[in-house]
Amino acid sequence: MELKDQIQLDKLPQHVAIIMDGNGRWAKQQGLIRVIGHENGTKSVRDVVEASAEIGIKHLTLYAFSTENWKRPKLEVQTLMKLLVKSLKKEIKTLQDNNIKLSAIGNLNDLPKKAHKELLEVIDKTKDNSHMTLTLALSYGSREEIINVVKELTDKVKNNIISIESIDESIINKHLYTQNLPDVDLLIRTSGEHRISNFLLWQIAYAELYFTDILWPDFKKMDLYEALINYQNRERRFGKTSEQLS
Ligand code: IPE
Ligand code: IPE
Ligand code: MG
Repeated sequence: MELKDQIQLDKLPQHVAIIMDGNGRWAKQQGLIRVIGHENGTKSVRDVVEASAEIGIKHLTLYAFSTENWKRPKLEVQTLMKLLVKSLKKEIKTLQDNNIKLSAIGNLNDLPKKAHKELLEVIDKTKDNSHMTLTLALSYGSREEIINVVKELTDKVKNNIISIESIDESIINKHLYTQNLPDVDLLIRTSGEHRISNFLLWQIAYAELYFTDILWPDFKKMDLYEALINYQNRERRFGKTSEQLS
């Protein structure tokens, strides 16, 4: 049986998030500069986006640039931003053809003007698409996101818009960048690193974590299928006992 046919379509994770890591090491392994790794990484993005839409994943979130990534050499940051613009221009067709709605989370105002503008344009053009939501985490930091929630809620309490007692999980969810997304079911990280790197700390509270040594530019449809099959073989207990579930 083909790998794809082993995926149970009635047990798909609703929300898959991916830390796309390893572009630099991929390039280095071949004696190339890091930027070539990022370029090849965009091909994996297309592959995984198409595969996710094809299978029927409702929400896919990709970590493309962290708040900490601004500390990289200026040239690398500039190239990543240029690549973002180029990919948005090029992939708008893939998004429309597959009925995918683009969305973004993070401190988008920090993006260079051109990238910000292009991003908002593609978000607007795809806003009525409904098959899948593709969310790009750009200049995203989970701690910054949580700090913003605390500030907004404190302000609302101060101005008597909400009471302290009313603050619960659902109010916090509604104030996060991810307010329109369900919790993450499956979090994938490529490149062999076993860490979260400030990604969706609140939203992955009960996510299944999947780590693979594959470097992001080598991560293709088949690798996503493998991750999904692995996910489907786990028992998500949410604190209960195994017996309670069956
Ligand atoms: C992921 O690959 C892409 C971004 C973080 C933007 P890296 O650039 O982190 O690649 P490695 O980890 O150095 O191999
Ligand atoms: C995490 O990768 C950020 C993205 C994939 C966009 P990094 O390569 O920046 O993470 P660390 O610094 O190795 O933890
Ligand atoms: Mg990295």
